[in-house]
Amino acid sequence: MSRSGFLFPILLIAFATSLGVTVLIPHAQLGALTPDFKEEDGLVSDVYPNVPGGLAEVGRQVYVSEGCQTCHTQIVRGGDSADVDRGWGSRRTVARDHVTEHTPVLGALRLGPDLSNVGSEKWRNEPSDDPYKPAKRDASWHLKHLYNPLAMGEGSIMPSYKHLFLVRKITGTPSPDALQLPKAMSAPTGSEVVPTPEAKALVAYLGSLDRSHPLKEAGKATAATTPKK
Ligand code: HEC
Repeated sequence: MSRSGFLFPILLIAFATSLGVTVLIPHAQLGALTPDFKEEDGLVSDVYPNVPGGLAEVGRQVYVSEGCQTCHTQIVRGGDSADVDRGWGSRRTVARDHVTEHTPVLGALRLGPDLSNVGSEKWRNEPSDDPYKPAKRDASWHLKHLYNPLAMGEGSIMPSYKHLFLVRKITGTPSPDALQLPKAMSAPTGSEVVPTPEAKALVAYLGSLDRSHPLKEAGKATAATTPKK
């Protein structure tokens, strides 16, 4: 075959591959979805109960402006991936999980764990004999982790977000919001570390992240087995 004879088959393969990847495969995955709208406002998905709003929405903006999505994804993979085993979610993430967000913060790189369900009680679900299992990942735990990730997990490489906190002299009674840090990391005597409104909003956003609600296109939820490190 002359060199130009290869051109047509090559172009055909390139065309067929792009058609498959950009049109046919997405259509097979999502084509059968039926829209679910709330009658009253015509906008919000009726099948999705966790619509973040208020403080959590402000926190989402802090999440984006601080660049958390450069190290954390919000897509739990299904199939053979270990995401469910790691305790990052009970099922894979589907498009509808992000339907209420103006710009979904999916992220592309995983230097840290996926945060799709970090607000769920079952997130990570480390075995009880794990020496690093936190008592509970509640708001005060997340605040301390943001202030100093090393305070909450040995060898953490997550950057500290100290600029979202104020270290100030205690005048009168200490603030009820002051972080209770391990001694070696706490503020100098007579001072306290208090979260800024941005830090509080960010933690409200983290607490709102729970996409474990069943959705028919996501398939059956599976209980996380022993998490893998
Ligand atoms: C340079 C990469 C990087 C960036 C940027 C980053 N993280 Fe992390 N994050 C990590 C790594 C690595 C871990 C795992 C170690 C740990 O738990 O500290 C982690 C862990 C976490 C955890 C889980 C902690 C646990 O063990 O339960 C949360 C929640 C979290 N990050 C939130 C955030 C938020 C919010 C931001 C933005 C303000 C952020 N991260 C920015 C790398 C990053």
